[in-house]
Amino acid sequence: MQIVRNITDMEGIASELKKSGKTIGFVPTMGYLHEGHTSLIDQCKKEADYVVVSIFVNPLQFGPNEDFDRYPRDEQHDTAVAQEHGVDYLFLPDVHDMYPQKTNIELTVKRRTDVLCGKNRPGHFDGVATVLVKLFHITRADYAYFGLKDAQQVAVVQGMVDDFNFPLSIIPVPTVRESSGLAKSSRNVYLSKSERNQAAHIFKALQQAQHFIIDGNKNPVMIIEEVTKFIKQNTDGSIEYVELLSYPELERVDEINQQIIIAVAVHFEGARLIDNIILDKNGNIPEAYF
Ligand code: PAF
Repeated sequence: MQIVRNITDMEGIASELKKSGKTIGFVPTMGYLHEGHTSLIDQCKKEADYVVVSIFVNPLQFGPNEDFDRYPRDEQHDTAVAQEHGVDYLFLPDVHDMYPQKTNIELTVKRRTDVLCGKNRPGHFDGVATVLVKLFHITRADYAYFGLKDAQQVAVVQGMVDDFNFPLSIIPVPTVRESSGLAKSSRNVYLSKSERNQAAHIFKALQQAQHFIIDGNKNPVMIIEEVTKFIKQNTDGSIEYVELLSYPELERVDEINQQIIIAVAVHFEGARLIDNIILDKNGNIPEAYF
């Protein structure tokens, strides 16, 4: 595995790989790699000739009161994980190299951001879009891999790639789960044993909603109520949102007659957890999201 710290070097490598006709798979991360990331890397490894992973804690996507300074960083651990999973190039750009001066153009994401997590994080997806435009160009990726736990991010990035004709495919990768169904997250370590058991009910609530739709229920209001009730009955967590929206457009629907997402955010004392399920109008998980 080659460690690349400089943008010019990464551009040179990507250009050579392209000349040789090889495909480049790219996994953008902010480091502190866990199983969610390694599932992206493993899938990338199967599908692309070369795997590039970036680690860059992007200041532009943190709000003024968010945890940019406290965001966990561990380069030694990340290098070992990347190496173990067969990454070819680990790209670790420096913040001054990425953002050397005030930019001439600022990106504002206009759609898919005023719901779910984006509602409480103004400017977050503008920062995500900005860094990805740069990283997609620098790495010249053919495929870029994103975890579906953050399905809103996948929808926003897909929108950007479509709008600006980026010559790459966004590959959504299913959420990795514990045997209880709890979505894996680095934040799960902050949950007490009892909270961890309770938190498994978040996915159970989503599965129950799936069964309602399979049974022919098309009413979003009723489904949201049932998910909310199930989480309240089975956990002490406080619900930030339960939303049912079209996917990937992320618009409200009156009736379920298209692909939808049911997404949830719940605060426990130890951590804030998010999870979601994407379903077609009959309640089945669409092939692209298996
Ligand atoms: O999902 C993340 O870790 C970040 O939002 C990303 C895609 C690496 C952009 O900074």
